[in-house]
Amino acid sequence: MSVTILAIESSCDDTSAAVIKDGYVLSNLIAGQEIHRSYGGVVPELASRAHQANIVPVIDQAIKKAGIGLDEISAIAFTRGPGLLGSLLVGTSFAKGLAIAKDIPLIEVNHLQAHILAHFILEKGKEDKIPALPFLCLLVSGGHTQLIVVKNHFEMEVIGNTIDDAAGEAFDKCGKVMGLPYPAGPVIDKLSAEGNPDAFRFSKPVIKGLDFSFSGLKTNFLYFLRDRLKENPQFISENLPDLCSSLQHTIISILLNKLIKASSLTGIRTIGIAGGVSANSGLRNVLKHEAEKKKWQLFVPPFGYTTDNAAMIGITGYYKYLNNDFSGHEISPLARFDL
Ligand code: KG4
Ligand code: ZN
Repeated sequence: MSVTILAIESSCDDTSAAVIKDGYVLSNLIAGQEIHRSYGGVVPELASRAHQANIVPVIDQAIKKAGIGLDEISAIAFTRGPGLLGSLLVGTSFAKGLAIAKDIPLIEVNHLQAHILAHFILEKGKEDKIPALPFLCLLVSGGHTQLIVVKNHFEMEVIGNTIDDAAGEAFDKCGKVMGLPYPAGPVIDKLSAEGNPDAFRFSKPVIKGLDFSFSGLKTNFLYFLRDRLKENPQFISENLPDLCSSLQHTIISILLNKLIKASSLTGIRTIGIAGGVSANSGLRNVLKHEAEKKKWQLFVPPFGYTTDNAAMIGITGYYKYLNNDFSGHEISPLARFDL
């Protein structure tokens, strides 16, 4: 029997809905929120309102694009957390309402687990292009930077974590200092292509084990710019590609270092990356190179499944459905929700 999941993601500033049938994506729509760009970060109150405005048309279009009727939906999966509470409430409430109205099961999804399980979304003709278990996943997003041993779809062990900022935050906060709009990660990625990664040197943290730290780099970057701007007020505009490229190079090398260490400590050579920062072209290139050198089996998700999207919620919902793992109607969202 076929399983069709309607999935809803509303944890931060993207309202997304997707329809997944037996592991394949029939539709995956995302409504972003331009309103935060000029604020230099997501404004929670504005995000909740925009979700409220977007959720009905996004879900409606996802169902139409999938070419299914409401009666074909087997279950509704939604992001329970982690994320902004007001944003999560919009998706959660909608999911509950529809589940009750159609008398179908409700499935809560952990957003971090979903970023990782995005690797298991099936594509016609490429069904064998999914990681073998266990695999080692570097999860890099706006709120998280973790190294995870993925034992199976439900059992995941976090073996490394950031002790302060996430990698995405490092991109976004340093970008803000350079006057770039939010989110700065993709902008820095683009500008880096024209810059020299060795033009400037920024500090790399010395952190024991498999943990990460990015707050020192942020401070170092801020003070470096402050000093240079005193000498030359045009320093940023005259050196923007080099600044971006050097910053990106530093962030990537911090990530790569720990990933290499984690692979050697665990003995796992099936490697995956997930989360918004895994869209970064510099990180992808460096990893491809490293994978060839180290004979890793590398899995990099398609761009559309790296940043926040409902398809990843749908694939997680699909596996939970097969496992009969459903939620009650009393469920409420969680701002903090560990793997
Ligand atoms: O996974 P995601 O969409 O949301 C969270 O769950 O946090 O990740 C968003 C983060 C932002 O910090 C954004 O700047 C970063 O991913 N990001 C990138 C790129 N695309 C998105 N960072 C570097 N290079 C990119 N191409
Ligand atoms: Zn995310």
